[in-house]
Amino acid sequence: MKILAIETSCDDTCISIIKASGNPSPLLAELRRARKKLHFDILSNIVSSQVEIHKKWGGVYPTMAKREHQRNLLPVLTRALKQSKLIKISNSQFLISNKNLNSKCQKLKKILEREKYLSKKIEKFLKKYQKPKVDLIAITIGPGLDPCLWTGVNFARAIAFFWDIPIITVNHIKAHIFVNVINKKPLTKKDFPAVCLIVSGGNTQVFLMKDFGKYKILGETRDDAAGECFDKTARILGLDYPGGPAIAREAAKYKIQDTKYKIQFPRPMINQKNYDFSFSGLKTAVLYKYKKTTKKLKKDKKYIQAMCAEIQQAVIDVSIKKTIKAAVDYKIKTIILGGGVTANKELRKQFKEKIKKDIPDSKLYIPDSKLCTDNAVMVAIAGYFRWKKIGKSENWQDIKTAANLKIC
Ligand code: KG4
Repeated sequence: MKILAIETSCDDTCISIIKASGNPSPLLAELRRARKKLHFDILSNIVSSQVEIHKKWGGVYPTMAKREHQRNLLPVLTRALKQSKLIKISNSQFLISNKNLNSKCQKLKKILEREKYLSKKIEKFLKKYQKPKVDLIAITIGPGLDPCLWTGVNFARAIAFFWDIPIITVNHIKAHIFVNVINKKPLTKKDFPAVCLIVSGGNTQVFLMKDFGKYKILGETRDDAAGECFDKTARILGLDYPGGPAIAREAAKYKIQDTKYKIQFPRPMINQKNYDFSFSGLKTAVLYKYKKTTKKLKKDKKYIQAMCAEIQQAVIDVSIKKTIKAAVDYKIKTIILGGGVTANKELRKQFKEKIKKDIPDSKLYIPDSKLCTDNAVMVAIAGYFRWKKIGKSENWQDIKTAANLKIC
């Protein structure tokens, strides 16, 4: 089946179309007999980043991000359909023969009454192009920034209604987990229990997965998320936004350890018995250290590189320690990572090494680097699993956002 997925939970406008087949049978007991191999083809994966807009603020401005989603959604959908070879211009016969067109357009306006910009453009788009051969629409409803989520949800509701395509809602965190099945051996009953670590710009959570669909949060950040910590400390150091990749780039240049540049930042909560995180203390430590730094040293590239290497290592140390602790405490068989920060090369490398050394019998799942940060492929995959599980469309009229949606 072809799935068109939409993701607007933060500052990236993402639409993807995938072709999904097979049963997630090893995962769902009731389908176990029909074991067709799970397979996903990515037909398109468009991510329109708003980085340039939010750069000057060093973080995402929700109202501005919402406005940009409204501007981006139709061009991004057009690109996704074109890339998937699913776009066709409507013939005039369609417009003449579609008697309900006017009343449908009236209803569209109602659905999009809070999305003024989209509302103005969508009618022309839907009249210009034919209904694409898509079987399901998957849409992220949370967690995320509520104004941004609403734009995506309203857009998904509008096209689901106009084209009469089934629709299914997706949890953003689960999508970060489910994207791990691409190009990898699917999980089976034997792989549970698993522990998942989600580290992104908005979330830092460790949870236990006893089986598919059975989640329990073990710990989460008490203040800033790991990605947020990268973004904020990068801003203190005068680096680019988003901060994660900028800090990783600088850290990678710091090859030779030099005592002249010896810097040590705290690893907050690393030795506590719980699975919680706190990254705001790390941010404050960076701020104080930088304030006390002489002007001469601030201009020294190597010093900034040393700072970045230490910030990155502090985040990695805490992430690994808490995850491995959960893995050992719960005698888990699999570790699953997800979220933008897992694109970090050093984090990926050190996780692999530590697991091999400390818990060699465990499996490690890390998403393909290109699918760690927000994208709609992950929404399409999570949508497919949910579709197979509940087996029916949700009612587009009833779909709402859930900015604080939990995993359980
Ligand atoms: O998952 P994501 O795209 O969005 C959220 O759902 O939050 O994560 C974005 C976060 C940003 O804070 C960014 O700085 C961080 O992921 N990030 C990285 C890297 N690439 C993105 N952090 C560390 N190293 C990276 N290579």
